Amino acid sequence: MRGSTSIAEQFRAKFGANPRVYRAPGRVNLIGEHTDYNEGYVMPVALGFYCWLAISPRDDQKLVISSDGFSDTAEVELDSPEIHPRKTWSDYPVGVALELKRAGVPLRGANLLIHGEVPMGAGLSSSAAIEVATALALAEQSGHSPDRVQLALLCQKAENEFVGARCGIMDQFISLHGRKNHALLLDCRALDFELVAIPECVRLVICNTMVKHEHASSGYNQRRAECEEAVQRLAKVLPGIRSLRDVTLDQLDLHRGTLSEVLYKRALHVIAENARVLGATEALRAEDLERFGKRMAESHSSLRDLYEVSCVELDLMVDQANRQEGVYGARMTGGGFGGSTINLVESRFADAFAENMARGYEKETGIVPQIYICAPAEGAGAIRSSSVGEKSG
Ligand code: GLA
Repeated sequence: MRGSTSIAEQFRAKFGANPRVYRAPGRVNLIGEHTDYNEGYVMPVALGFYCWLAISPRDDQKLVISSDGFSDTAEVELDSPEIHPRKTWSDYPVGVALELKRAGVPLRGANLLIHGEVPMGAGLSSSAAIEVATALALAEQSGHSPDRVQLALLCQKAENEFVGARCGIMDQFISLHGRKNHALLLDCRALDFELVAIPECVRLVICNTMVKHEHASSGYNQRRAECEEAVQRLAKVLPGIRSLRDVTLDQLDLHRGTLSEVLYKRALHVIAENARVLGATEALRAEDLERFGKRMAESHSSLRDLYEVSCVELDLMVDQANRQEGVYGARMTGGGFGGSTINLVESRFADAFAENMARGYEKETGIVPQIYICAPAEGAGAIRSSSVGEKSG
């Protein structure tokens, strides 16, 4: 199933009502990894893979949430004083509903049907897409059109507190603010952003290693804790710093002795990565793709050697990419420990690149990877009701 037509039909068959349809995209991050929760810079783009959500109101205060990808249906009484996570996919939409309620949005009962196109476990933010689609749909159904920055923060809070993953703001923010053919430079402290055009002559090619390492979420939370510890230690000699965003490379070197070797490596990655994002932005504005690609390569090495969130399969993908024709840059993308690489490839070489990568990776690992040739897509929104009978998606 793909697009608004099929989800609307499926909804009508299941709930016997005409739904309103929303969609929210997944994302890929071009550069700026593990910087968002350090109040730094990131540069993601929204992808043309969406989470589709159909919704219609109910007369009671119940949320009935089903997904064509999962057999179980979640039912939640919005008035219930105690709603607990069930450690399953429905925690994302339920967590968002609870955060909306906490923010004072008077929710109505509703039937929801979710269809996710964003590949799961690929590091392309399928969970943020579900959160954002749910938030938009529930808020609008209650007559609210909340500010998109507030909505992103609310979705992040739901994931941090109800689901229990301590993610930063990047994924929810880009899902709500993505723009066709543009990357988004986001300052994760100020929550200011700038859209930067991606030249027509390149494609974003995503190579999914199909590897989902067991320690992805624990490793992620551990990295966050290490950054927080580094800030606490550095604050003793650099009073007034609030995050690694406030520390320069010179200051880090001067006060290296206050940190263990591991904390020093983590801080060095974050501080240098922030500078790389700004450098890459300059390069993109100047359409200097060679320079942009160099920053991507440096980012990958730093994530592998200093932040230690890469893995054998991601490194192999990047090494193979660097040997292909027409490649400006290649790096792991997202939280790491598996997932995907992002490759900036000259458009006319994109098909050959995808074929060679698939063949080479399978030969080395025995695993058939998924490869997607993408261009930046639009952020989340409602689908006009007039188009819910037409082909769309
Ligand atoms: C995950 C998180 C993001 C971000 C990246 C790493 O995708 O959800 O907030 O921290 O990892 O850059």
